[in-house]
Amino acid sequence: ALTATDFKVADLSLAEFGRKEIRLAEHEMPGLMQTREEFADAQPLKGARIMGSLHMTIQTAVLIETLVDLGAEVRWVSCNIFSTQDHAAAAVVVGRDGTPEDPRGVPVFAWKGETLEEYWWCTEQALNWPGHGGPNMILDDGGDATMLVHKGAEFEKAGAVPDPSTAESEEFRVFLTLLQRSLQEDPQRWTNIAADIKGVSEETTTGVHRLYQLAETGDLLFPAINVNDSVTKSKFDNLYGCRHSLVDGINRAVDVMLAGKTAVVCGFGDVGKGSAESLRAQGARVIVTEIDPICALQASMQGYQVLTLEDVIETADVFITTTGNKDIIKAADMARMKHQAIVGNIGHFDNEIDVAGLEATPDIKKINIKPQVDEYVFSDGHSVILLSEGRLLNLGNATGHPSFVMSNSFTNQTIAQIELWTKNDEYDKKVYVLPKHLDEKVARLHLDAVGVKLTELTPDQAAYIGVPVNGPYKPDHYRY
Ligand code: NAI
Repeated sequence: ALTATDFKVADLSLAEFGRKEIRLAEHEMPGLMQTREEFADAQPLKGARIMGSLHMTIQTAVLIETLVDLGAEVRWVSCNIFSTQDHAAAAVVVGRDGTPEDPRGVPVFAWKGETLEEYWWCTEQALNWPGHGGPNMILDDGGDATMLVHKGAEFEKAGAVPDPSTAESEEFRVFLTLLQRSLQEDPQRWTNIAADIKGVSEETTTGVHRLYQLAETGDLLFPAINVNDSVTKSKFDNLYGCRHSLVDGINRAVDVMLAGKTAVVCGFGDVGKGSAESLRAQGARVIVTEIDPICALQASMQGYQVLTLEDVIETADVFITTTGNKDIIKAADMARMKHQAIVGNIGHFDNEIDVAGLEATPDIKKINIKPQVDEYVFSDGHSVILLSEGRLLNLGNATGHPSFVMSNSFTNQTIAQIELWTKNDEYDKKVYVLPKHLDEKVARLHLDAVGVKLTELTPDQAAYIGVPVNGPYKPDHYRY
């Protein structure tokens, strides 16, 4: 049984609803369910204490229970203040054989609508392992848990105390405040935690970017597997996931007719490609902005007009940022938009849209329409509608990607955890991607469910194109 203080979710009475949706999701997640079967006896994650920081959704519940079924102990938080599905969090805490009065599942610290203080408090709680100090594995999405351990250890090594007043953003100020307190409590805490951690598997483009930066400067404290760049992750989740969940988020937020409107998608990477298709399928006229000539040309070949934000700022109806970069849409841009233009972000962090700038301008009035939908009224009377305060809207306004695509992502995550835990001495303090045969395996696990009949190579054909009959079928540099 869990003690009442060793989890924090919105409402345990939502567990039954959560459990029903988890049951439906399991059927849509064949990769995870077959992985459970394959490793049920071997228990490869026995001894692993996995701290997860990844949107606490129904799909993530199936991931968490897969890790448990493979032998791991798990503690969990969301990696975004708005992305938790409270019924999923409740069901995971209650567990498969518990009740709301007697929860027996996994400690989760997450609820929809956390403050920034609460967000970092939750992350710290999940990293606090009763009886052990910390976890020995991290499963991250966006890199916040990894950053907390690294920054903490960095300050400790330098013997320095963080100064929150130097922070460039509110988010970072809250983060430094937590770190300041934690270092005063125990000046060796993060160094000790870092020493125990065998590795991290990272879910998303932005988190992977942070890991490569740490590895480049020699500051990465443990091995990392870049799950994002498995083909069966970024070429499916980022693309087809966003194709599903972008419009879902917009519809649940404002339910505005998208057909006939002009929508701007900033960035035409994997997320941008899915987002543009999502809007086009609704009958919107889609215009793309890009900085990369290759992606710009791809957008053009797909039939999208490629312009700059400046060209469309006064005429478009919907603006979606997908860049993983910062300062894409400024407060001054929003001042020039059409009345009731819709502005949202589907990239990982909330600095793509200058919400701080909106908030800081005294004569802009904010009207909350409902949770995660705000209208900002400018002094000339026109307004813009901002979704999820500029945080990823597919998880803030809707429920993120559907189970089937997340089964691909999370099967990669599970395999990455098994790799790092069971073959730890084969990994240095670097960033790795899973080998192609495992990427192909993840795809294979999902074929039956969608009725795919795969053609088999004859030995003669295999020899002719120079690949083994059973794969891998492509060189590592192949781009799909
Ligand atoms: P990506 O690197 O494939 O695409 C980003 C694109 O934005 C690139 O083509 C880049 O050239 C372009 N870009 C950068 N600066 C720009 C600027 N100033 N103006 C216009 N374009 C610009 O990355 P990916 O995989 O598409 O991910 C994008 C973001 O979405 C990341 O933060 C990632 O973590 C996040 N993500 C969110 C998901 C969700 O469910 N909301 C799912 C997967 C990823």
